[in-house]
Amino acid sequence: MEKFTLGVIGAGTMGNGIAQLGAQKGMKVILWDMNEELVSKGFDRISATLSKLVKREKITDAQKEEMLSNIKTTSKLEDLQNVSVVIEAIVENLEVKQDVFRQLDNILAPEAIIATNTSSLSITSIAEATGRQERVAGMHFFNPAPVMKLVEVVRGYKTSDETVSTLMDLAKQMGKEAIEVKKDTPGFIVNRVMLPQFIEAIRLVEEGVASPEDVDKAVKLGLNYPMGPFELQDFAGVDIGLHVMEYFHDEYKSERYAPPMALKRLIRAGRLGRKTGAGWYDYEK
Ligand code: NAI
Repeated sequence: MEKFTLGVIGAGTMGNGIAQLGAQKGMKVILWDMNEELVSKGFDRISATLSKLVKREKITDAQKEEMLSNIKTTSKLEDLQNVSVVIEAIVENLEVKQDVFRQLDNILAPEAIIATNTSSLSITSIAEATGRQERVAGMHFFNPAPVMKLVEVVRGYKTSDETVSTLMDLAKQMGKEAIEVKKDTPGFIVNRVMLPQFIEAIRLVEEGVASPEDVDKAVKLGLNYPMGPFELQDFAGVDIGLHVMEYFHDEYKSERYAPPMALKRLIRAGRLGRKTGAGWYDYEK
């Protein structure tokens, strides 16, 4: 199988994880961000992560150097003109993503595919910014991208079968299990299943049925999940959970996705999860 030459747009958390993964699998990767400082920060983070793998004897120093040599960094979108697949992982904002997709559409070869790692925006709306809607799709990785096994390949309204199959193939080359999400739908599969669980867990606490600790314990021991819903919200950012609920609530116009008051109260108090030292739980000792 021919190796893909991969373009990765955005050198933040997800972008550098995806670029690292591609490089680890022997792909040539071009990593872009808005300026040299941001993109070299992303590259340095990849180098630091690979150094940890060397320390833990998962890879050798020579392998690390080879992986790093697979990655080129740039702040010029034009440098991506020869890549066959681009994965975009920039800020979660429709206008910003559309703007970058519009520019990429002008720069890339007509047969190149542009995938977005968006976790909630409509693939069809992002694709509309281009003249190649059949070659735009979602490619949703999970954090941390080099570790988490799943990739959701998401169809926009006009995404072609060929695009889906190329991206499924790419995910496989990256060592992932890929599933096809056949319709552009809020939250795709994983977040669609997860969000009502968060809401229900919060409602149990609001109703005084159980404490967050006991809900987490129940879910971990009773459902065999590695983390409970409160631990997971704190890990991912409580504010992100609210943002996704508001989005679902607005899209479906359904009270089943109405954000619980206890969640809003927490956020108003600045308790956003582990990143602020407190969320549903306290972390600062
Ligand atoms: P991040 O904040 O770590 O990185 C965002 C990147 O966007 C940065 O490199 C930044 O320089 C760039 N950026 C910001 N404004 C920009 C602009 N105006 N034009 C071009 N680039 C700009 O964010 P993260 O977490 O890596 O998320 C990126 C995407 O991946 C989002 O769409 C997010 O929804 C999605 N995602 C995030 C996951 C997570 O757990 N963090 C999981 C799965 C998907």
